Amino acid sequence: MAKYRIAWMPGDGIGVDVMDAARIVLDAIALDAEFIHADIGWEFWCTEGEPLPQRTIDTLKTCDCALFAAITSKPKEEAEAELIPELQGQGLTYRSPIVRMRQLFDLYVNLRPCKAFKGNPLNYRDDLNLVVFRENTQGLYAGVEFHPLPAEVREALEAHSSRMAAFHDVPLEDIALSCRIFTRRGCQRIVRRAFEYAQRHGYPTVTLVEKANVIRETSGLMVREARKIAAEYSGIELWETNVDAMAMWLVKNPQNYGVIVSSNMFGDIVSDLAAQLVGGLGFAASGNIGDDFAIFEPTHGSAPKYAGQYKVNPTAMLLAVKLMLDWLGETETAQALEQAIADTIVEGKVRTYDLGGSNTTLEVAEAVAARL
Ligand code: IPM
Ligand code: MG
Repeated sequence: MAKYRIAWMPGDGIGVDVMDAARIVLDAIALDAEFIHADIGWEFWCTEGEPLPQRTIDTLKTCDCALFAAITSKPKEEAEAELIPELQGQGLTYRSPIVRMRQLFDLYVNLRPCKAFKGNPLNYRDDLNLVVFRENTQGLYAGVEFHPLPAEVREALEAHSSRMAAFHDVPLEDIALSCRIFTRRGCQRIVRRAFEYAQRHGYPTVTLVEKANVIRETSGLMVREARKIAAEYSGIELWETNVDAMAMWLVKNPQNYGVIVSSNMFGDIVSDLAAQLVGGLGFAASGNIGDDFAIFEPTHGSAPKYAGQYKVNPTAMLLAVKLMLDWLGETETAQALEQAIADTIVEGKVRTYDLGGSNTTLEVAEAVAARL
């Protein structure tokens, strides 16, 4: 029996291309793992009305962790229109499978390192080593949303907030509401993981990105909990910033930052910005990590227009493999893989189109594999 059982979820679009690249590297390091294919993605939405079938959830429960690449998602009307005729008109709603998996498996950390590799022509600066800790299960992604607003929800809100009076004359069907739900425990655990990481990796600061001057209760809860946790880490300073200012500072002085922690939506936005500073989504990997299960993925989407062309940069996917190896405790192999990726980039001979080259996705993976 292999040491690890790893769910294998290419999804669709270029997800398939970059997973093939991941396989080349995993074969080269000869990880003692069994890879179990699991269905996920747009085709299962179209044919089954469910992009994350129950059988896939069941498979995930039998695995140590999972590798996931990318899947297509479309707005409400387009999604409905692509269902097979038998499934249309049943009120099925498309929900992002990755968001669902994060919540189902309580993968509350979204770990997003953004490191500038030497020789990457797309670096904004060469001295960046940012790591975003994005809360991954709650906040604006909680999925508690209404449109139209139910009358009893309006009544309850009016009973509890004088601010609701401003909306009293708006018809219910003209109001949409998305709830931004934070829990104390949710705030505590993401902030704690960020501080632990900062301590382990020698970062002198943790920057909390919120907007507590306006969103006083949710962002406020996060700030208040973060201050308590920060007090336990004497060598690490807590920097508090507002998300808008942080967007500016990350462009102005990104080298001043290291570990960044934020809630789900702000973390989503800030992590794309951080990714672009180190070459874009082609270089950004994510670990969706819970207490005993994790899913690793490139941060990029499925880029349907490039699907099957083996043209896109697989680096983000290979870095996701690296994060997985770290999480499994295969630290030396993880380090070797990152070094092979770094060396391939700095040598600059094998490059995909985003870096001005003409090599394929798989050629890049082979170049990395050759160094292992
Ligand atoms: C990400 C993506 C996802 C998100 C999408 C695909 C649902 O943007 O992983 O950052 O919003 O979390
Ligand atoms: Mg995103």
